[in-house]
Amino acid sequence: MNQTASSSITEGVALIMLDNPPVNALSTPLRQGLQSELAQAFRDDQVHAIVLICAGRTFIAGADITELGQPWQPPSLPDLCAMLDAAPKPVVAAIHGTALGGGFELALACHYRLVAASARMGLPEVNLGLLPGAGGTQRVPRLVGAEAALDIITSGRQIKAKEALSLGLVDAVADDQSLQAEALAFARQVAAEGGAKPRIRDRTDAIESDRNRPDIFTTFAMANARRFKGFPAPAAIIEAVQAAVTLDFDDGLAKEAALFERLLASPESAAQRHVFFAEREAARVPDIGPETPTIDIAAVGVIGAGTMGGGITMNFLNAGIPVTLVETSQEALDRGIATICRNYEATAAKGRMTAAQVEQRMGLVSPSLDLAALADADLVIEAVYESMDVKTNIFARLDRIAKQGAILASNTSFLDLNRIAAATSRPEWVVGLHFFSPANIMRLLEVVRGTATAKPVVATAMRLAKRIGKVAVLSGVCDGFIANRLLAPRGTQAEAMMLEGTPIDEIDHVLVDYGFAMGHFQMMDLVGLDVIGRNATERTVMGDLVAAGRLGQKRGAGYYDYDQKRRPHASDLTATLIKEIAAANSVAHDPTAGDAAILARLLYPVVNEGAKILEEGIALRASDIDIAAVLGYNWPVCRGGPLFWADQIGLDKIVADMRRLEALHGETFRPAQLLVRLAEGGKRFGDRS
Ligand code: 3HC
Repeated sequence: MNQTASSSITEGVALIMLDNPPVNALSTPLRQGLQSELAQAFRDDQVHAIVLICAGRTFIAGADITELGQPWQPPSLPDLCAMLDAAPKPVVAAIHGTALGGGFELALACHYRLVAASARMGLPEVNLGLLPGAGGTQRVPRLVGAEAALDIITSGRQIKAKEALSLGLVDAVADDQSLQAEALAFARQVAAEGGAKPRIRDRTDAIESDRNRPDIFTTFAMANARRFKGFPAPAAIIEAVQAAVTLDFDDGLAKEAALFERLLASPESAAQRHVFFAEREAARVPDIGPETPTIDIAAVGVIGAGTMGGGITMNFLNAGIPVTLVETSQEALDRGIATICRNYEATAAKGRMTAAQVEQRMGLVSPSLDLAALADADLVIEAVYESMDVKTNIFARLDRIAKQGAILASNTSFLDLNRIAAATSRPEWVVGLHFFSPANIMRLLEVVRGTATAKPVVATAMRLAKRIGKVAVLSGVCDGFIANRLLAPRGTQAEAMMLEGTPIDEIDHVLVDYGFAMGHFQMMDLVGLDVIGRNATERTVMGDLVAAGRLGQKRGAGYYDYDQKRRPHASDLTATLIKEIAAANSVAHDPTAGDAAILARLLYPVVNEGAKILEEGIALRASDIDIAAVLGYNWPVCRGGPLFWADQIGLDKIVADMRRLEALHGETFRPAQLLVRLAEGGKRFGDRS
């Protein structure tokens, strides 16, 4: 018997219940179960209407992503939609939770959609490098017109019940508590009224006026060119929606199917699907399970109201958790609080928050100049200046103040957490919580496990991350932890190539072509050269630029000159400085030629560092390293992260290239033992995950 679908009949309505935890993904058994229940209900003379509903926390979350890439076992999802199109009786989808991707497409193939007030729906396939492959690109425009459809499908956004109703995507909104009863009543009424079976495929009213407007599609593509760069899915979505407008329904479906297959085979989609699962896998820590106790975090303390401390505080306020924010001077405290408030007001000005919400969040923060105010906090996060002395001093004081059972966390980005923990009498309660700037926005949270950190502390930190909307990646203690350590060699190589005579705009454009939002030197200019400020012992280009007042974009000049529109232009002054400093440091003129060579020089050392992080046991798995790069450093999602990308190239090729680079540029390029071992065994990083 198929466990995933069952039905019961009451007063002439068949209620088909789908039950495939945790999110009712349309796996083969579920599709088969649904097919057989539908067929049965179609045949049964006692049944005059059908309600499709899901058990558990949500309606169908889409195709089963683990099955994508394998041939559909019948029935395919499009087969099921065709079956619904041909249904002899009205079918009502009753939606709660989220109806996503193939789940929403299935609902669109039903005659009616009734949604719970808290439900959301959407077509997030674009985030997996795909397009909706079960009629979504054809049915949505028929309901909302081409322009709204383009927005919905290329953004993958989730639409709330109320908006879905006003857009015409659904027929009615039900009370959360009585969705099933209301759906049954709705179906009974439709049946009583003669069993109308309105099919979206038959409608053309919403797309009529789009027929002679090919400009809609070109304009949309151009307006979003920056956002879509590097991703093939949006262009395919535009093509499919255009097909909905210009072709008849079946031809449009055929076009959609062909485009779906093409995207499914693309490396970008493979990379995006890898990132989807990697993000979820990161939450798993082998020696921590549901049996590990966790600590309830009801009150948080943050030490330091600077940029990091303020951003960290906002995460908790957003989640409704009160924060006591401690600083050493009234001025710094006022400034920190004012910045938080300004950030919220800016969000409110964009219409993404109400004034009441701003007030409510600001009401959760208690400013203080006294560390003793943290006595009741369940979690204290230190976010002060990166100095071991300052931090150990704070932790020693905190040890005397914080209540027993409180978690003491440091936001250090490279210092030895074990030394910080040793400043307390309770190192098992000390953990690293390394946020990335801007801390209220970047989704990565490195949870740094010290040698003594207790399991419940790690378990709490991992769980808390999810509560504040972060993705936690567990890291061991090392200089720079995962993300900073991983990316450091990219900067080192960019600067080395610069001194050897490779133009900086060439280096940057290779990174941008690869998919990064900006190149290394553009990023330096954006952050501000004075902010990055290094304690170099020898003369450096950056040091000289700072001395010349070229602090970066904010001053209109840094590595680059910037015009009024903040566009970078190569600078003669920088070029002269580079030559001078190269000569002073005896760097031979030997520019790296060709995009591929520049890319290998920049990114192979990153792959190598990833291998070292893995073999040292700093990261649990290769996919964690990818997630740290994607979420901490905006590594292009369409590349899947450095180690996934390396797997795509082939580790044997990378090792061979690195040996060649080692001969030219020295030890930095010596392949890590793990990399060599995997390459020799014909394996990939992914095989270790
Ligand atoms: N297929 C397979 N597994 C899925 C899945 C799916 N569509 N959606 C979620 N899961 C799994 C997750 O991997 C996770 O597994 P784990 O517990 O073993 O790690 C589990 O379900 C729970 O997922 P989350 O941790 O993400 O749970 P949340 O409650 O935070 O979020 C959700 C729920 C909003 C449904 C979220 O999981 C999500 O966004 N899922 C993906 C939705 C999606 O992209 N659908 C489109 C699929 S492609 C498609 O339909 C193609 C079609 O057009 C032909």
